[in-house]
Amino acid sequence: MCGISGIVSYKNVSKRLVKSLSNLEYRGYDSCGVAYLRNGQIEIRKDIGTISEVEARERLSDPVSCIGIAHTRWATHGGVTKANAHPHLSYHQNFVIIHNGIISNFRELREELSKQGYEFKSDTDSEIVAQLLEYHYEQTKDVEQALVDTIHRLEGSYAFATITPYDPERIYCTRHESPLLIGVGPDSQYIGSDLNAFIEYTKNLITLSDGEYAILDKDGYVIKNAMTGREAQREITHISWDAEISKKGGYPHFMLKEIHEEPQVVHTVMQLESEKIAKLAEMINEAKRVYLTGMGTAYYVTVIAQYYLAQLTGKFYNTLCADEFENVGEFDEDTLVIAVSQSGETYDTLSALRCAKNRGAKTAAVVNMLGSTMSHDVDHVIMQGSGSEICVLSTKAALAQVVALIRTGIELGSHFSPDQAEEFDQRRREILQTPQYIQQILDELSGIIRLIANKIYHITNWLFLGRGIYYAVSLEGALKLKEVTYHHAESMTGGFMKHGTISLIDSQMGSVFFVPPETEKKLHTDTMSNVEEIKARGGFVLGVHSGPFNPLFDQQIILPDAPPFIMPLLHIAASHLLAYFVAVKLRRNIDKPRSLAKSVTVP
Ligand code: F6R
Repeated sequence: MCGISGIVSYKNVSKRLVKSLSNLEYRGYDSCGVAYLRNGQIEIRKDIGTISEVEARERLSDPVSCIGIAHTRWATHGGVTKANAHPHLSYHQNFVIIHNGIISNFRELREELSKQGYEFKSDTDSEIVAQLLEYHYEQTKDVEQALVDTIHRLEGSYAFATITPYDPERIYCTRHESPLLIGVGPDSQYIGSDLNAFIEYTKNLITLSDGEYAILDKDGYVIKNAMTGREAQREITHISWDAEISKKGGYPHFMLKEIHEEPQVVHTVMQLESEKIAKLAEMINEAKRVYLTGMGTAYYVTVIAQYYLAQLTGKFYNTLCADEFENVGEFDEDTLVIAVSQSGETYDTLSALRCAKNRGAKTAAVVNMLGSTMSHDVDHVIMQGSGSEICVLSTKAALAQVVALIRTGIELGSHFSPDQAEEFDQRRREILQTPQYIQQILDELSGIIRLIANKIYHITNWLFLGRGIYYAVSLEGALKLKEVTYHHAESMTGGFMKHGTISLIDSQMGSVFFVPPETEKKLHTDTMSNVEEIKARGGFVLGVHSGPFNPLFDQQIILPDAPPFIMPLLHIAASHLLAYFVAVKLRRNIDKPRSLAKSVTVP
């Protein structure tokens, strides 16, 4: 949710620290700040606003120091104020911290320390961490012991880091159910809530596990278990992503850049090792019960995949929104839970996986972020390799995840029905053609979609409708439109629309129909009947389809005539462009829409 960064180095860190913070800004952007150690004292600069605004006002990168920590906030406890912005200082000003997550017992701890004379300056749960560190240091006069004692007092989810004049050349940090990575460089060590914090400076990464803490100095690091005090040996993962992927590369927004990367990420997923896909297929085959889960777009990926899996295997696999998992899920050792997540850090999805694991279920995941908690915690992971996704909205990562699950479906289908090998090979060949069709949409339809967006941007209420897999696509299309334009968009099946929602239809209400190709006769005919029903009531209809021009639609996006199997993927790409261009017309904050954050690591 929030972004955490820290650097300890032989050289000045301030410029790198603020740059690193900017690379994390997509994790939260209501306030930010930095803390350095200079001449044996803590210096904090922070305020509300974006990093560039606060940098202009507070000159975050001016101080010269070889050690610093930084934070960009997405408010949970306490409003958006300067006092609530991180870093937070302890009462006697000897410890400064940055924190990501939620300390659930902060009220009790606050009361306890208030009785000891500690005064609090913010409304946050985070400040308690600084106070506890100081309190425990007073007892032991040992920074490491104070950290361990503090960890033992905290409940909830957290990743935090501290620096202190008591040990001025080291960063101390820890995590529990909140991400924290270490970047290892030759003359500098880094921490970050994800690898965008330091990918520009080092590609050597270590993931801290829950219950561990790390102590970093300019030469290296030590990792220990907070319960046993024992040192942990860790292998360094080398990141192959190019730092360039985290830059806009000439596009006005990351969202557009990332939509333009959709052909490439589909291609990449098609090149992933077959063994990884085969292993997931084998796990599905061996399980008695299978759930696919995720949140937001990642959940919709599972719904789209559910239709593909049904088509390829003839079987029904459950999908369940991760936050409802514990409420209705039924799992035992014969159950497999497959999570989908771009960040690999989504609280609800991790909770669902933990809940399943605790009851003996097997777990697997399709994940984009290297070093993420999910990629380590599951029994089997498919790293989709789509590169950093910086825009808060998930576009390219989602499309790649669908393709990873289609590949799994093809593998499973081939296993169940070896006699249909030729048909499955044909499906594989069709997916391999997807990048070229999406490229065609980007090259030839962007202008038309932009023109349509400029005509429809004033419509503030939308239904997104489809049938079959196109219903699943409409779920994703509606979410994308609402999160980036702030217009209301609701998705449902064409059939369901008649059972109540149709009463909303008038000339002010817009409908987007994702229309299957005519070859899918029944689906196509039924969808077009729904279009007629809306037109008969004076509704405005935008059709997304691959047929000839149809005067029934008020506006239409005519997609390339691709094989029906991959048409839903083309509709997804078109829906991403549509949301983008409406948001451009409305001058929305496209890469960082209001109230959102890239990875939601809190309940
Ligand atoms: C939508 C979006 C969110 C995420 C959701 C899950 O564009 O970005 O709905 O899809 O928060 O995030 P991950 O995939 O990181 O688990």
